[in-house]
Amino acid sequence: MRILITGATSGIGKQLALDYLAEGHEVWTIGRNQQVLDELAELGFNAVKIDLSNRAEALEWFNTLTSIDLAILNAGTCEYIDYPDFDSALIQRVMRANVESMAISIEGILPALRKGINPHLVGVGSSAAYVPLPRAEAYGASKAAVEYLINTLRLALFRENIAVSLVCPGFVKTPLTDKNDFPMPFQVSVQEASRAIRKGIAKRKPEIHFPRRFTYLLKILSLLPHSLWTHVAQRMMRNGQKP
Ligand SMILES: NC(=O)c1ccc[n+]([C@@H]2O[C@H](COP(=O)([O-])OP(=O)(O)OC[C@H]3O[C@@H](n4cnc5c(N)ncnc54)[C@H](OP(=O)(O)O)[C@@H]3O)[C@@H](O)[C@H]2O)c1
Repeated sequence: MRILITGATSGIGKQLALDYLAEGHEVWTIGRNQQVLDELAELGFNAVKIDLSNRAEALEWFNTLTSIDLAILNAGTCEYIDYPDFDSALIQRVMRANVESMAISIEGILPALRKGINPHLVGVGSSAAYVPLPRAEAYGASKAAVEYLINTLRLALFRENIAVSLVCPGFVKTPLTDKNDFPMPFQVSVQEASRAIRKGIAKRKPEIHFPRRFTYLLKILSLLPHSLWTHVAQRMMRNGQKP
């Protein structure tokens, strides 16, 4: 397969890229960190430096692509609100990285996917979008937007035989979560995350979520009335569990 992965210079995206290369696929890795991109190029990747939030730059490069069979749009960031400062600039940064860059990537990759074999578009959201989580106003809202965007895209691209999957990880140990100063239940390694994502992609599942002991718990909590969930979350916060 010809596979493109955004956010492949770190964490989940990098592990996916390494695993797909080891399986013998041709892989394009997108990111901004030139040093890591140089290392990836040495390993045999088509490593490309693009700031996906720069629409003109990104679309110009995507236009040079011929065909892609599998595109994994994984690039993203996470920042938490620190009360009492409700910082709208933080929300703008996170929306730009997670939602706008995803939209730009979709526009860029669709022409190449339309020329691909059994084309498949995968967007990485988060299980954080399942329930309102303390301090995750920006991150959760951005991933709720990604969820809606990807699930709606599936309805349109069905007519063109392009499969569309949403990936909703729980906590995965990466540089993104290494910054967190709160307990991260059921955290998994990037190797476990990559395995779960590749398995779901191979089955062309509409939603790939893991680890299931955590994501099913959140899915059940999401069925609670807001009043009950608010009570539970506020109790957790009162007991000093962050966020
Ligand atoms: N780790 C978790 O627990 C977890 C849980 C749920 C969902 N997720 C989602 O999974 C995805 C990957 O997360 P991760 O934990 O692997 O994070 P990570 O290690 O911080 O990696 C993020 C990647 O995104 C790239 N990126 C960010 N902004 C970019 C931009 N404007 N243009 C190009 N590349 C950009 C980074 O590239 P450079 O460093 O080269 O700029 C990096 O390769 C994210 O969408 C995240 O929200 C993660």
